Amino acid sequence: MIASSPLKDKFKTMKKIGILFGQERSFPEAVIERINQKAEKGITAEAVQIDKIFQNVPLGYSVIIDRISQDVPFYRASLKNAAITGTAVINNPFWWSADEKFFNNALAEQIGVPVPKTALIPSREHPTGTTGESFSNLTMPLDWDAIFEYTGFPAYMKPYDGGGWRDVYKLHDKEDFFDKHSGTQQLVMLLQEEIIFEEYFRCYCIGGKYVRIMQYDPRNPHHLRYATEGKSPDPKLLKTVEEYTLRLCKYLGYDFNTVEFAVRDGIPIAIDFCNPAPDADIKSVGQENFDWVVETTANYAIERAKAQKDGQDNLTWGEYIKSSVGGKPLIAKAAPKTAKTAAPKKVVTAEKTPAKPKKAAAKK
Ligand SMILES: Nc1ncnc2c1ncn2[C@@H]1O[C@H](COP(=O)(O)OP(=O)(O)OP(=O)(O)O)[C@@H](O)[C@H]1O
Ligand SMILES: [Mg+2]
Repeated sequence: MIASSPLKDKFKTMKKIGILFGQERSFPEAVIERINQKAEKGITAEAVQIDKIFQNVPLGYSVIIDRISQDVPFYRASLKNAAITGTAVINNPFWWSADEKFFNNALAEQIGVPVPKTALIPSREHPTGTTGESFSNLTMPLDWDAIFEYTGFPAYMKPYDGGGWRDVYKLHDKEDFFDKHSGTQQLVMLLQEEIIFEEYFRCYCIGGKYVRIMQYDPRNPHHLRYATEGKSPDPKLLKTVEEYTLRLCKYLGYDFNTVEFAVRDGIPIAIDFCNPAPDADIKSVGQENFDWVVETTANYAIERAKAQKDGQDNLTWGEYIKSSVGGKPLIAKAAPKTAKTAAPKKVVTAEKTPAKPKKAAAKK
């Protein structure tokens, strides 16, 4: 029999934070380093190690930050298994498997966040294993005139579940649409009104409470998109951008996301808010944004590790799921005037950043 020793007890109470990632290098390493630098009692961080996955067997992590399961179905299934055995997975792998840009736009409309007019377009080629016979319920041709009238031209066409600017097209007229659409194979596409914008923002949102608003110009090449030489934005506009960012992420239930807005006539319109493994590379976001996202992720992962309890679900579930399961309306009725209002959640914007990391530069 092994006698109880201080070392054994230490392992019993040790909580591990793991990061699961693909080809990216700067962000995962910096987050691991930053968490370990903080030397929180009983908490360590490392790259997730997997050498086998058995059903209902824990992986040994209190928290896993997922940066790659969108591209690796084996990882997505491994994370669901980790979740049911008690790991707090950032982001919730069940929700991330369920939503896409089209649903998210519908949700945004219902919760009062402006989005471009968007139509869902069936794939040009039949999904593998289906034929024309499988589409008894589609009226052919579709009512293209109504669709084009709804979105107008120019319009954007992009995959309903896309990322990384893959297969994103700006289209000028219906001939252009049919021409480009004919090359999209089995992709289900969105056709979306173009928002001609005077300003554009990309916002990190972490833990449903920490927001960093970044001026972003998508017309620049990748490494210059976060250049912020332009005029300072109106504080009222920033407040609305922050409020919409929080609302979207809370209803979706994402712990880590970016939300993009194109501002037209002073109104921020949400363009893309389904980025649950958002770009955090030092080369694209720049040193200051990188320091913020590393520091905030490290703090949030520690917060989740402390809150994590064995033997129960430790995932974040969004307001959409919670109200659906609870049989409640999506938008709660306004509280009576006499009711006490809750204290506002802590929000960190571009002006108010958490303490600077001692050393957050990425290892190359
Ligand atoms: N409706 C629109 N109006 C104006 N510009 C748009 C619209 N839709 C997309 N864009 C432009 O195309 C870019 C890519 O679109 P989107 O963000 O939806 O694709 P993505 O593949 O998810 O990109 P990312 O990897 O940056 O998240 C946007 O940053 C924006 O510049
Ligand atoms: Mg995206």
